[in-house]
Amino acid sequence: MTSGTRQQRYRDLMSAFPTGIAVVTSLDTEKQPRGMTCSSITSATLDPPTLLVCLRIGSATLQAVTSHGSFTINLLHEGGQHAAEVFSGPDPDRFARVTWKQSWSGLPWLVEDAFAMAECQVSGILRVGDHAVVLGAVNMIYQTTGTPLLYGLRSFAAWPQPVTSDRLPLCVE
Ligand SMILES: Cc1cc2nc3c(=O)[nH]c(=O)nc-3n(C[C@H](O)[C@H](O)[C@H](O)COP(=O)(O)O)c2cc1C
Repeated sequence: MTSGTRQQRYRDLMSAFPTGIAVVTSLDTEKQPRGMTCSSITSATLDPPTLLVCLRIGSATLQAVTSHGSFTINLLHEGGQHAAEVFSGPDPDRFARVTWKQSWSGLPWLVEDAFAMAECQVSGILRVGDHAVVLGAVNMIYQTTGTPLLYGLRSFAAWPQPVTSDRLPLCVE
C-alpha cells in the first residue's frame, strides 16, 4: 500500500468517527486574534481538568497558541456551521466574518456561534509528525444550553436529541 493510499484509508476511518466542532482561538504576537476550526479536541485528564487539541505544524493558530501560552475552545452550536467554514477556509480575515468579543483575559470568544467557551493555559506541547498535540489546563468555563454542531462522514449535522438544561452551569471559574 502506498503512503497516499494509507493516508486516504486513515482519513476514511476518522471520517466515520463523528465529533463535536470547536474553533480554537488565541492572540498572536501583535495581539491580533487567530483561530481555526478543530475537531481533534479530547479530554486528557480530569484532575487537573485538562484537554488536548491537535494543531497542524505551520498553522498560524498554533503559532499564536504557542507564543501567547493560552487559548480558548469555542464549542459551536447547530447554527455555527458558517463559523466552522470561515475558520477552516482560505480568507485570512476570519474574525471580520463573525461576531466575537474579547473575554476579561483578552482571548477571543465567538459569542454568537458558540454555546460554550473554555479558556486553557498551555501545559504541554508534543510534536508528532505533521501536528502538535497541545495540552491545555482548563481555567475558566462559560457554558449555556445549546445544540452541539457535529462533523462526521465529511458533513455537518446537529445533535439529534433535544438538549435539556439539566446540569448546565452558566458560568464556572
Ligand atoms: C470540521 C473540521 C475539523 C478540523 N479539525 C482540525 C484539527 O483538529 N486540527 C487541525 O490542525 N486542523 C483541523 N481542520 C483544518 C483547519 O481548520 C484548517 O486547516 C485551517 O485553515 C487552519 O487554520 P490556520 O492554519 O490558518 O491556523 C479542520 C477542518 C474542518 C472543516
